[in-house]
Parts: sequence; structure tokens; C-alpha cells
Amino acid sequence: MEKIKKLAFGTDHAAAEIRNTVKEYLKDIGYEVEDFGFDEHGACDYPDYAVKVAEAVVNKKADRGILMCGTGMGMSIAANKVKGSIAAVCWDEDTAKLAAQHNGANIICLGSRTATVSEICHRIKVFLETSFEERHMKRIVKIRDIEKKV
Ligand code: RB5
Repeated sequence: MEKIKKLAFGTDHAAAEIRNTVKEYLKDIGYEVEDFGFDEHGACDYPDYAVKVAEAVVNKKADRGILMCGTGMGMSIAANKVKGSIAAVCWDEDTAKLAAQHNGANIICLGSRTATVSEICHRIKVFLETSFEERHMKRIVKIRDIEKKV
């Protein structure tokens, strides 16, 4: 199992109310969390935070990324534009586990408007504690090949 210690964390305004609870939870269970922020003065734009978190992960400044917006989808779409990022929206425990195990996701994306804070914390924990299964590597290589072509 790869040692996961450092997390890059970012949200938009839609996750403003839960962001500190989630961040403190992650620290309590032993992770170092670097907060790439959000703009607390009104509405902000999720791509601004998605790119910061994704760059931290692909440049190995963080082991995994955590992104939250209203649904997780905007964050995922934006983060996946960064080469090397595999940002998965996880809508339950199974998808959090399979994103790590089968898809080799390095970023989990969650929706503050589609889940409770305890569901979100639990999904992140499951994601971080699940190892990638090497038998899926040939598919990741094909994703990398697509990135090289475009
Ligand atoms: C912001 O209102 C909302 O659109 C955003 O948080 C996110 O859900 C987009 O995917």
C-alpha cells in the first residue's frame, strides 16, 4: 500500500459550510492537509481551485487531492484537464473504493449538495485507504496515451 500522507484540498463557495469540518476530520485521522482555498467573499469559480489541487498532485507536492463543489462534477471536469490528473466524482462508498482500486484516481471530487458531511468524510476515508490494483494499469496507460495525442 502506497503511503498516503499529504492531501491537497480545495472547494468553491458551494462547499463553504462544510469545508472546515471535512478538513479537520482529515487532520484528525492523520493526514497533512494543504488548503488551496476558495474565495470566501461571495461566489467563486471552481476551475480556479481544481487546477491548483490537480497541479499539486501531478507535481507530487501532494499524494492525493480532495475537491468539493455543489455536485463534484465541475471540479472533476476542470481537474481532468491537467495532464496526469484522474479526478473521480464519487457518489457512494463503492464508487469511492473503485475509483482508487480500478481507475487509479488521484483526486476525489464530492458534492456538498448531494451528500451529507458524514457521507463525504466516509467516502474520502475509503478512497484514501484503498490501493490501486495493478491489473488495471494497462487501462491507465491507454489514458496516458490519449493525453499524449491531444
Ligand atoms: C456553484 O453554484 C455550482 O455550480 C458548483 O459548485 C458546482 O456544483 C459545479 O459543478
